[in-house]
Amino acid sequence: MAKAETTMENLISLCKRRGFIFQSSDIYGGLSSCYDYGPLGSDLKKNIKEFWWRWMVQRHEDIVGLDASILMAPQVWEASGHVEGFTDPLVDCKKCKHRFREDLLLDPHKCPDCGGELTESRQFNLMFKTYMGPVEDDASIVYLRPETAQGIYVNFPNVVKSTRQRVPFGIAQIGKAFRNEITTENFIFRTREFEQMEMQFFVKPGTDMEWFEKWKQDRIDYYKALNIRPEKLRFHQHGPDELAHYAADAFDIQYEFPFGWKELEGIHNRTDFDLSRHEKFSGKDLAYYDDLTKEKFIPYIIETSAGADRTVLTVLADAYEEQQLEKDSRTVMHFAPEIAPVKAGVFPLVKKDGLPEIAHEITDKLRPHYQVFYDEGGAVGRRYRRQDEIGTPYCITVDFQTKEDETVTIRERDSMEQVRVKIPELRNWLFEKINNRLDSNS
Ligand code: GAP
Repeated sequence: MAKAETTMENLISLCKRRGFIFQSSDIYGGLSSCYDYGPLGSDLKKNIKEFWWRWMVQRHEDIVGLDASILMAPQVWEASGHVEGFTDPLVDCKKCKHRFREDLLLDPHKCPDCGGELTESRQFNLMFKTYMGPVEDDASIVYLRPETAQGIYVNFPNVVKSTRQRVPFGIAQIGKAFRNEITTENFIFRTREFEQMEMQFFVKPGTDMEWFEKWKQDRIDYYKALNIRPEKLRFHQHGPDELAHYAADAFDIQYEFPFGWKELEGIHNRTDFDLSRHEKFSGKDLAYYDDLTKEKFIPYIIETSAGADRTVLTVLADAYEEQQLEKDSRTVMHFAPEIAPVKAGVFPLVKKDGLPEIAHEITDKLRPHYQVFYDEGGAVGRRYRRQDEIGTPYCITVDFQTKEDETVTIRERDSMEQVRVKIPELRNWLFEKINNRLDSNS
């Protein structure tokens, strides 16, 4: 049966109540569009980034990692086209003074908040600017990177020289990006500070469309492996008016959020735009020499660019379910086991007769390998509900039979089915269920 859709109110409330996501600087009234990941949210986001890294870097022998700095030489952003063209059209309401992105308005002349008259639009650059060193003059301007991609392009020759990678190959990176967005919206969907998970794949010109198709398929497969419902995912091809200045072709992977179909990831054929521009602006030869075929060329780049925070929102929205059971109801987050912040709850059936000691021993043994949570408070049913609400895939209960045969029950979150497993086999059992799933997806 299809599950009932959630609302943003339900999600935001659960995120705050259970410690996934808080408003930044909460005690000062919050800072608009900035968010902090709490104890559960930070683990969820870290697990998503690790899942991406494992999927993109570890599984592909032709992809290597990089961790470039956020601050880069300002010429990078001239070469990339961001200084000149990374702008949005901004309009102000003459009456209430609110600001809007003109291209997102239904009526470009009328304020959506108060109906007042809007100003003519002007182009607003989205890059955050700051100064390097003590003097605040034009010569010391640096930008907070608006995308992680450029750190990869400028390191292309370093990676070619320092590894045995040959074109076609890719460079992947996860890191913060900053955009002074005019309109922020929908919780963590569009924020001014966010994290990207980007991979740039360098290919021989002429083979680019083949690789483009391959990466489109691989990236959809990735979201399915993350347990995102396939019917909630679709491709959207950019029309000529949507294409970024660098792209010859582009598809978004969209997800159907509670507020509609929106971009989750962009897949772009960036041609030789980036390396050619950096070659021109830096004066360095960035062409690739293939010593087998003796050909020299500027590689084309196929980019896959996903937002880590947007993936967190997708995973939260997709996982959320309020289920009516026979006797009661539960809120359950159906996270894929790899990304669930807590992998197992460990409960003694009662708080006596040596059961807590055995449960503590199990917790201590599992803790170096998995995030586990010991809980002896209240009826077991209530303890299950607390773990369901944070998406813990397995709950291990120590009961009286444990003392006789060294077995515990493991209750699975989604099916609520229970099995008995011997304590010495617990770690391997969890490994099979949690870490080995990618085998069947590769
Ligand atoms: N390097 C290409 C690039 O940055 P993009 O389509 O502008 O392309 C890629 O961004 C992804 O980064 C988006 O699909 C989205 O997931 C994420 N992203 C972009 N702007 C964002 C914002 N203001 N807040 C949160 N995530 C954002």
